[in-house]
Amino acid sequence: MNKAILEAQDIHKIYPAPARRSWVAVLKGVDLKVETGRFVSIVGPSGAGKSTLLHILGGLDSPSRGVVKLQGDDLYKLDDNHLSRVRNQRVGFVFQFYHLLSEFNVMENVLMPALINSPGAAALNSATRQRASELLVQLGLGDRMRHFPSQLSGGEQQRTAIVRALINQPRVLFCDEPTGNLDSANGSELIGLIKRISLQDKMAVVLVTHNIELAKAADCIYNLRDGLLVN
Ligand SMILES: Nc1ncnc2c1ncn2[C@@H]1O[C@H](COP(=O)(O)OP(=O)(O)OP(=O)(O)O)[C@@H](O)[C@H]1O
Ligand SMILES: [Mg+2]
Repeated sequence: MNKAILEAQDIHKIYPAPARRSWVAVLKGVDLKVETGRFVSIVGPSGAGKSTLLHILGGLDSPSRGVVKLQGDDLYKLDDNHLSRVRNQRVGFVFQFYHLLSEFNVMENVLMPALINSPGAAALNSATRQRASELLVQLGLGDRMRHFPSQLSGGEQQRTAIVRALINQPRVLFCDEPTGNLDSANGSELIGLIKRISLQDKMAVVLVTHNIELAKAADCIYNLRDGLLVN
């Protein structure tokens, strides 16, 4: 059995419900283990807590209770600087709305996380630029590198966001409804691309979706129901 790259134990999340002066428990004790290079999907109805869980797993939002370990590091025990570094270097995120920077072109957008990771623009080495070019070509964006986001289709914008998420060679890619704005053909093609890269780079993927057909690309599908993950 492979080593777990990501391990969550007894994750709880409660949110305040101000109008009722009470609390809403969204996650009620989630356990999850993801092995190196594995692809898992999490499905569940709207409001089930899928995005909440994904943010907690990726170090974006702390749980009310529980532990998340990435390559053995207890994420919510790290100081802010260390946690930011882990997020930048070891995880990648792809969201439903691509969040590209409109005033930068495709190449500049995908290099952004690498720039943040290096002391200065000059330090961006040619290997990183080479990786960006290769990934863009691999995802069919070879002739779109100088385009601005407004000059791209939805599918092209999402593929740009994926290259940006991959630029620092993350060990886990978190995808939150990445095909939510795409038609079904583009959606399945995108999931196929993510799967191919996962196999090629032995990168784990956690995909959140309400589309059960797309979820089937994974090695393992979990349901988030009543605050718990079930197979
Ligand atoms: N910051 C917040 N404060 C209070 N309640 C919140 C907050 N964020 C999320 N919630 C609530 O937590 C629940 C789960 O939200 P979440 O966004 O995780 O659901 P989801 O499964 O991703 O839904 P969808 O499929 O619609 O994206 C919802 O009922 C939501 O209203
Ligand atoms: Mg969501």
